[in-house]
Amino acid sequence: MFNANMSYRNMGRCGLKLSTFSLGGWTTFGGSVKDFTSIRSILHLAYESGINFFDIADVYAKGDAERMMGGALKELPRHELVISSKVFWPMSEDINDKGLSRKHILESVNRSLQRIGTEYLDIYFCHRYDPDTPVEETIRIMDDLIHHGKILYWGTSEWTADQIQEAMDICEKGGYYKPQVEQPQYNLIAREKFERDVQPKASFHGMGLVTWSPLASGLLTGKYDDGIHDGRLSKIDYLKETLYTDENVHRVREMKKIADAMECTRGQLALAWLATQPGMTSVILGATSIEQLQENLGALKVNITEEVDKDLKKLFSF
Ligand SMILES: NC(=O)c1ccc[n+]([C@@H]2O[C@H](COP(=O)([O-])OP(=O)(O)OC[C@H]3O[C@@H](n4cnc5c(N)ncnc54)[C@H](OP(=O)(O)O)[C@@H]3O)[C@@H](O)[C@H]2O)c1
Repeated sequence: MFNANMSYRNMGRCGLKLSTFSLGGWTTFGGSVKDFTSIRSILHLAYESGINFFDIADVYAKGDAERMMGGALKELPRHELVISSKVFWPMSEDINDKGLSRKHILESVNRSLQRIGTEYLDIYFCHRYDPDTPVEETIRIMDDLIHHGKILYWGTSEWTADQIQEAMDICEKGGYYKPQVEQPQYNLIAREKFERDVQPKASFHGMGLVTWSPLASGLLTGKYDDGIHDGRLSKIDYLKETLYTDENVHRVREMKKIADAMECTRGQLALAWLATQPGMTSVILGATSIEQLQENLGALKVNITEEVDKDLKKLFSF
């Protein structure tokens, strides 16, 4: 896959190249978008626009995101795609059907491969840190999965700098494959943990960074300027409670002045800004329609100057 309208970056110090914008399926595919024809059109547009990285998790729509995205991706050349999935969150009431134990990881990867319809995952993420499992147990099964060809790289998601360091030390000592990518939340509203803790540590170890919720679940587009009428925040209470604060709504309204001066939308500005931040490999987009994806990919044409970077950081300071 190469598309001159897209840019591609090495995933940290790995040879693997990811499109600067990628596409994920949290709450969307198999969730708020159930119609396979729509899912197929969005994924195929992503591919035609140069996106090569598709991010899934077992827990998204309890397996349906893997099934539906897998169904659409099956029609595209597998060797051009970078497909990830994740393991950690409970998939059933079963006591062992959660976490990062050797058993759960092995059972989960087999199920994810089956649901997606692929022989291997390019990246397999530990969806959170598991305090109930020794990190070495997790690392050794990830290392085994790489040796068996079931996964090519393994990564972490929402691990702290200390947890990443713990994993690196164990890998170094035991000669195991190291995690080569971290997947943290990062957007204009959620900056502090990424900028202070995760990015410096991940970059120090040569890990790639693929980041989630770039539009703060849509809030940064300005779609909630006049209240919540529909969209994700109308459906998921905890997101509404954490994100929809007077301060955030005010800052997003203020951001319109910067976007207007640059003749782009606020969403495009927020995405273009993310793509220029230190350590960034790929910004994982979410979209419930073709139109949203098209608008978001317009961020590729937005140029973030030092002055704009400074203005945005001031407006969204922490
Ligand atoms: N590792 C983790 O723990 C973790 C956690 C969360 C997400 N992720 C990954 O990151 C991906 C992206 O996260 P995200 O979906 O939260 O990203 P996001 O960009 O913050 O939110 C995407 C949602 O915002 C709305 N939206 C997007 N573009 C829009 C536009 N141009 N105009 C208006 N509304 C728009 C859509 O929702 P509505 O149309 O429904 O309003 C869309 O589903 C996920 O799919 C997943 O792969 C990972």
